[in-house]
Amino acid sequence: MKKISICNEWEFTEIYSDNIFNKENTYESIRIPHTCKELPVHYADEKSYQMICGYRKNIFIDKELEGKRLFLKFDGVGHIADIYLNSEYIYTHKSGYTAFEVEITDKVVYGKDNQLVVRVDSTESSNIPPFGNVIDYMTYGGIYREVWLEISDTSRITDVFVKTPNKGKVDLDISIENPNFIDSIVIDILDKEQKNVCKKIIHKEKIKSKLNNLLCEVNEVNIWTIENPYLYTMEVNIKGIEEKVLDTYTVKFGFRQVEFKKDGFYLNGNKVKIRGLNRHQSYPYLGYAMPKSMQIMDADILKYELQVNAVRTSHYPQSQYFIDRCDEIGLLVFTEIPGWQHIENNEEWKNVAYDSVKEMILQYRNHPSIILWGVRINESKDDDEFYKKTNAIAHELDNTRQTSGVRYLWRSNLLEDVYSFNDFSHTGNNKGLLPRKLISPNKNKGYLISEFNGHMYPTKTCDDAAHRLNQAIRHANVLNSIYEREDIAGGFGWCMFDYQTHGDFGSGDRICYHGVMDMFRNPKLAAYVYASSGDIKDVLAVGSDMHIGDYPGGNVGDNYIFTNSDSVRFYKGDTFIKEFIPGKDKRWSSLPHPPISIFDTIGEALENGEGYSHKKSEAIKDCLLAIQRYGTNIPVKYILKALWVTIRHCLSPWKAYNLYNKYIENWGTSAPIYRFEAIKNGKVVAEVIKESNANLSLDIDVSSNILKESETYDIAAIRVRVVDKNNNIASYCQLSINFEVEGDIELVGPSYVCAEGGMCGCYIKSIGKSGKGILKIKSEQTQEIIIEFSIKKEV
Ligand code: GAL
Repeated sequence: MKKISICNEWEFTEIYSDNIFNKENTYESIRIPHTCKELPVHYADEKSYQMICGYRKNIFIDKELEGKRLFLKFDGVGHIADIYLNSEYIYTHKSGYTAFEVEITDKVVYGKDNQLVVRVDSTESSNIPPFGNVIDYMTYGGIYREVWLEISDTSRITDVFVKTPNKGKVDLDISIENPNFIDSIVIDILDKEQKNVCKKIIHKEKIKSKLNNLLCEVNEVNIWTIENPYLYTMEVNIKGIEEKVLDTYTVKFGFRQVEFKKDGFYLNGNKVKIRGLNRHQSYPYLGYAMPKSMQIMDADILKYELQVNAVRTSHYPQSQYFIDRCDEIGLLVFTEIPGWQHIENNEEWKNVAYDSVKEMILQYRNHPSIILWGVRINESKDDDEFYKKTNAIAHELDNTRQTSGVRYLWRSNLLEDVYSFNDFSHTGNNKGLLPRKLISPNKNKGYLISEFNGHMYPTKTCDDAAHRLNQAIRHANVLNSIYEREDIAGGFGWCMFDYQTHGDFGSGDRICYHGVMDMFRNPKLAAYVYASSGDIKDVLAVGSDMHIGDYPGGNVGDNYIFTNSDSVRFYKGDTFIKEFIPGKDKRWSSLPHPPISIFDTIGEALENGEGYSHKKSEAIKDCLLAIQRYGTNIPVKYILKALWVTIRHCLSPWKAYNLYNKYIENWGTSAPIYRFEAIKNGKVVAEVIKESNANLSLDIDVSSNILKESETYDIAAIRVRVVDKNNNIASYCQLSINFEVEGDIELVGPSYVCAEGGMCGCYIKSIGKSGKGILKIKSEQTQEIIIEFSIKKEV
């Protein structure tokens, strides 16, 4: 089958009417992926993207295509699409989160332009999931994923399902239309180097429309793991007379087995603790409409920046490009049908949900990264009749994966194989999780934490340091409980980044600040809790900038380091204070790399600087540190200790005050410079310096300087951080950042953006031609940055 992108040269109108069929009328020129409404980041109105809009495109169908079969394939249209060809209605698809295909062979006119019109309903009042009640995320709208023209012979392969029951064994189902014209089917398996590792030929007499359980075998197989996600390619060719290839179907797959057991999750028989985050598929300004490169970017951020091993695609199936990338990089995926808390009590709505289960499984079941199907509406009530059906559909279409469904209910009726529970019980001072036995009615099935934290502690990048630290600690607390409890398969934190939501939720500006990153994918401190749990990249983040003026009474309080190093050396000025070893703080002893508490910012400095005995220094130090930590709320035991120390060591209050100023910091003393070195295998692998300074610059992360115009336009994400001279984020620098573009690119979003909490971003889009572009980024307090892009058009 030939697949041709038809993403370019579309027209769009926000108001659909029959006038769209009149070619004399002209509309706005657009390209797909397209959002029906670009939105501001703050105070976006969900009503503004709800509309019945129209898309139109002329497709020239060559005379040479006569005799072939033609299909239109839509990867995702939010939320109901009515398709018309040459003014004739041909098809309706309901649900904005799965792909659909429609045959147009009998409807086209050859050697001419054919007018394709799509009426898109992005209102939230339609009778399909997730609609019918309030929803905590914006649902956007438009033809927001790619569109294709597919060309095939009369005989074609409609589906190939590759199962890998055992190491090296492939169990294959092939579905074919019009098998009578086929002489042979040739199945090839290629390894990463394109070497053929298995060939199988099926001859005419055995060919029928459904070929199930065909067995193939690969010797010396490379299995698919998180660390080495080895992918094979299967090519299925159907051949007619004289070996003429009628259709080819290509699938990437991996040899792997997955199972949730009562005591955890197993990948290829090895127990793996799932450490993941929930991801929505939204972006600033463009909602859901982002091309391939941006989908890949999110998967890469999860794997390499946040260093998680799993993602939940809350609350719907997401772009195939995203999942393809998860396959390639070894990121486990829990995906689920669209929906949010509400089940509409009518069959029409439920039928769309059943269709979504079918479409999700048929469209995604070859992805090795997908480990579990969510077949319930997220956080909905029990509805046994409804969910017996969704489970039956899932199990029938895929007997290699288990089902689950995300609940907030305790002891709900478990029709699935795994109890997934959103545990929002952590308040900062209690245990990370509720006891499993209170929640799940079945101790013999798997148990997974599908969400935690989120709304329990919304955190903005511009919140103060103590707040940002608190969010991070809460994530560490719950993650620790997940690691501690052997029988929990793992958990997905809520959530990867802040997202736009309806007025019924969020912080008033229609944003849920629940992310460990902001909407532009800039990390908050909590991001480093996840990042430091992995081992791909060295991480060193210090929980506080340690400016006394940022804390009530000047008491900096508790400070923590998030690192995956062996130890952290701490210096004050040039003086080495202490080497901190992770794992001393028992609160997080189950984490792979626990946060380090840095209460002791004096070390042996008192002993060395004042010549006191070790015992005396330690006693005085304890009191000074307690004052720093607790301020006026100092616990009685320290008051008593301080009294004892002053008497025992004849320490006058004046002397104690001077020691505090000298070894800690106080109003009126000059602010110290703190330095942290992360040590791994005896070497310094990262350094953080905390020092008051006003020397600002822009730290820019560009997802790619090369934009590729191929199936459609390309986008680069620009992440902007205002940093001080030591590369720390200038968190309170709400500077206005100006973006200007020149050349063959376009800016997405406004040209002035506030660096919230010192961070912001923008997007750069290619405009259909090869060439060069320049992005200038400047602000009043920093130097200008110029970024060059080259745009390559692939023909
Ligand atoms: C959950 C819900 C999520 C999100 C989250 C906020 O109940 O499943 O979609 O709303 O709360 O913490």
